Amino acid sequence: MSYDVIVIGSGPGGYVCAIRCAQLGLKTAVVEGRETLGGTCLNVGCIPSKALLHATHMLHEAEHNFAAMGLKGKSPSVDWTQMLKYKDETIAQNTKGIEFLFKKNKIDWIKGWASIPEAGKVKVGDDVHETKNIVIASGSEVATLPGVEIDENIVVSSTGALALKKIPKSLTVIGAGVIGLEMGSVYKRLGAEVTVIEYLDTITPGMDAEVQKVFKRLLEKQGIKFIMGAAVQGVSTAKSKATTTYKLRKDDSEHTLESDTVLLATGRKPFTDGLGLDALNVATSKRGMIETDANWATNVKGIYAIGDAITGPMLAHKAEDEGMAVAEVIAGKQGHVNYGVIPGVIYTHPEVATVGQTEEQLKEAGKSYKVGKFSFMGNGRAKANFAGDGFVKLLADKDTDRILGAHIIGPMAGDLIHEICVGMEFGAAAQDIAMTCHAHPTYSEAVREAALACGDGAIHS
Ligand code: NAI
Repeated sequence: MSYDVIVIGSGPGGYVCAIRCAQLGLKTAVVEGRETLGGTCLNVGCIPSKALLHATHMLHEAEHNFAAMGLKGKSPSVDWTQMLKYKDETIAQNTKGIEFLFKKNKIDWIKGWASIPEAGKVKVGDDVHETKNIVIASGSEVATLPGVEIDENIVVSSTGALALKKIPKSLTVIGAGVIGLEMGSVYKRLGAEVTVIEYLDTITPGMDAEVQKVFKRLLEKQGIKFIMGAAVQGVSTAKSKATTTYKLRKDDSEHTLESDTVLLATGRKPFTDGLGLDALNVATSKRGMIETDANWATNVKGIYAIGDAITGPMLAHKAEDEGMAVAEVIAGKQGHVNYGVIPGVIYTHPEVATVGQTEEQLKEAGKSYKVGKFSFMGNGRAKANFAGDGFVKLLADKDTDRILGAHIIGPMAGDLIHEICVGMEFGAAAQDIAMTCHAHPTYSEAVREAALACGDGAIHS
């Protein structure tokens, strides 16, 4: 069989790319070695973690806010087996959905692991498939840490953390990044003692400093403990316990922490094993990222790469955008991704969402900017829903009023951020948001109030 495009990997980058290729009239196949389509995101990442975050958030609401609303009675007890089943069913619905979309778009699923013997050929098992173009969308894998061996039982990666045999009494999380804080929140709500050990002095590196500070305080209020400025040296296991050894950076003193389970969440690295990139001389960076030009083309003609395997934030939606864009390029059209407007969301409670530049980045670049900030305490809907923690912070150019960034911590932040994303794509000024009628009572009004605060002032603060 010969194809116009073979996509390697069926995660959000790969499957979206394949669908767009098919829509543009290209004969397309996807190679996937997993049992089900959807990659890390659908099988062991974004989707299952959101199911557990949703279920445990419901539990938190029942335990903490129901009585105050006059909803009396015993709080629900946790049936862990059923919760995992709900998570697995959520995964199955989504992965089957991709299978349906492949059939609908006449995309072939070649089952197995791919290698590229030469440009124009993809080998899967004993079969070699001819193709005009190859898109590598092979994603990423957990980055290991010296001295920490993942057994997916006591010492787990995000994959193991989504399928623990039982709820641990104590959990040590290495790394206060997105995975650590989302999964840490899940197990804290399920009753585990959660301690996060972070190398830096702040959580969620790269985020707006004010958000980092408030976020940490709110997580601490929920009972999550933090050990900051601490470099993990290693983890040893004995019977069903783990001992994590770390050194405090301020005085080099060594400490240990015991727990039932350890989650290693110190980042991910490109997954390109077995593709044969070295033999093909495909250029990669020192950190293993495939190098591409502005059209996602590698240095080898006919081979493209997108998503976690190339440079940039390791986010499903960034991969999706690149998948669509590279399909357009292959079909002879224009493909475009605006890397300046890629939102980032952490699905804790409250949620954290960010887009564009942080105040720290603007300061460093010497830009003159103004800040419009509005607390959810001034938002009627948030108060009614016990969701007054957090704020919206809008950054706009001091002279032109053009929006430069937005940082939200609060209810539904991951949805609210998109108003700003659309605004930024249209080159909106803060005043454009401020002059747009927002329905009352909604959380969105907090975004408008932050925009008003960039001008003559917010109304409810
Ligand atoms: P991360 O890069 O977000 O955070 C890793 C943290 O570990 C950093 O704070 C780092 O300073 C710390 N660290 C590194 N070495 C350490 C050591 N030896 N001791 C203590 N701390 C150490 O990585 P994470 O959370 O593993 O996520 C991986 C990728 O997956 C990220 O690119 C993330 O964006 C993506 N992801 C995104 C999600 C979302 O969009 N909601 C959800 C889950 C993952």
